[in-house]
Amino acid sequence: MTLPPFKLERYFAKYEFNTEFLLCSSDCEAMSIADLLAFESGAAEKFQNTWLGYTESQGSPVLRKEVCNLYTTMQPENILVHTGAGEAIYLFMHAMLKENDHVIVHTPHYQSLSQVAKGIGCQVSPWIAREENGWVLDLDELRHLMRPTTKAVIINTPHNPTGYLMSRADFDKLNKFVQQEKLLLFSDEVYRESEFDPSTRLPAACDYGEHAVSLGVTSKTYGLAGLRIGWIATKNKKVYENMAALKDYTTICNSAPSEFLAEVAMRNRQQLIDRNLGIIQSNVAIVDKLFTSHSSLFTWTRPQAGSMGFPKLLKGDIEEFCDDLVRKAGVLLLPGTMYDDSRNHFRLGLGRKNLPQAVERLEEYLSKTR
Ligand SMILES: Cc1ncc(COP(=O)(O)O)c(C=O)c1O
Repeated sequence: MTLPPFKLERYFAKYEFNTEFLLCSSDCEAMSIADLLAFESGAAEKFQNTWLGYTESQGSPVLRKEVCNLYTTMQPENILVHTGAGEAIYLFMHAMLKENDHVIVHTPHYQSLSQVAKGIGCQVSPWIAREENGWVLDLDELRHLMRPTTKAVIINTPHNPTGYLMSRADFDKLNKFVQQEKLLLFSDEVYRESEFDPSTRLPAACDYGEHAVSLGVTSKTYGLAGLRIGWIATKNKKVYENMAALKDYTTICNSAPSEFLAEVAMRNRQQLIDRNLGIIQSNVAIVDKLFTSHSSLFTWTRPQAGSMGFPKLLKGDIEEFCDDLVRKAGVLLLPGTMYDDSRNHFRLGLGRKNLPQAVERLEEYLSKTR
């Protein structure tokens, strides 16, 4: 299997740790171990006593029990913990897809959601979200993309990079369709629980039935990317067992300190959500103003959830714009070309505390150059 470079990750590798303002991060503001442990009395001492032996391959029982609270019908035996969501994507595709299978992928998307399948030799059809439709996916288009060899539909809502949240009615229909067609639904839900209006939160796909696999992680809504703890939740025993068997060839089991910290995080996740949504909401207000005052230069489709949006530059080339901005002003935006988008979009992150200063710097740059 050959995999081309992961464009977005390579772009971040070049800039993430040497640029003053990251205005395109997908995760929410992180915190220190000390701040996380302060959520629970006695947690700091327990952390010190964490045993540094191998851990249970499927994830610690306590952590899996905590993760179940995200779902309505999951039991700890339905949760398989991974090293980040990235590992789970890689293993799902290797576990369930083979050469010449056909998969349909919500597009634009985080690159591995299609690339791993392509690397295996699958045929991949993009299910395209369009800005002119508010990034809404059209279920009729999905029906037209179907082939006799279709094995899986891969969806990501809340969506990276547009912030699109599927409606409940459409999500119900999507699950029904996938069930009827006897396909698998791989539902990347790493931005779940970051809906601006909590009443719009979708049920997790795994709670609809055995056709579905839900993907979760501590990195995004909860702002704890450094833990590298992700998971899948599914009632599908075959998926679970196949992925667990492959995991023996990748990471075997998870980091013991990270599992303990993730357990604390998940027990206190409402506090993390409130903190991070607070940051996002006040950042969205600033970004709304920015785009209103520069409406001849950018389009802006306001996200409904998650920690990013996907505006479009109306004048000039987006790669050149981002390159000049980072060199002259120390502000990093992510050109949409990293998602194979050729329509001049860029990703703008909403989850970081220093967004107001980053936007100020961007405004200064615009006033000098435009
Ligand atoms: C939609 C989506 N899925 C999966 C991942 C991978 O998450 P992690 O880096 O925490 O493994 C990301 C990270 O950006 C993502 O945006």
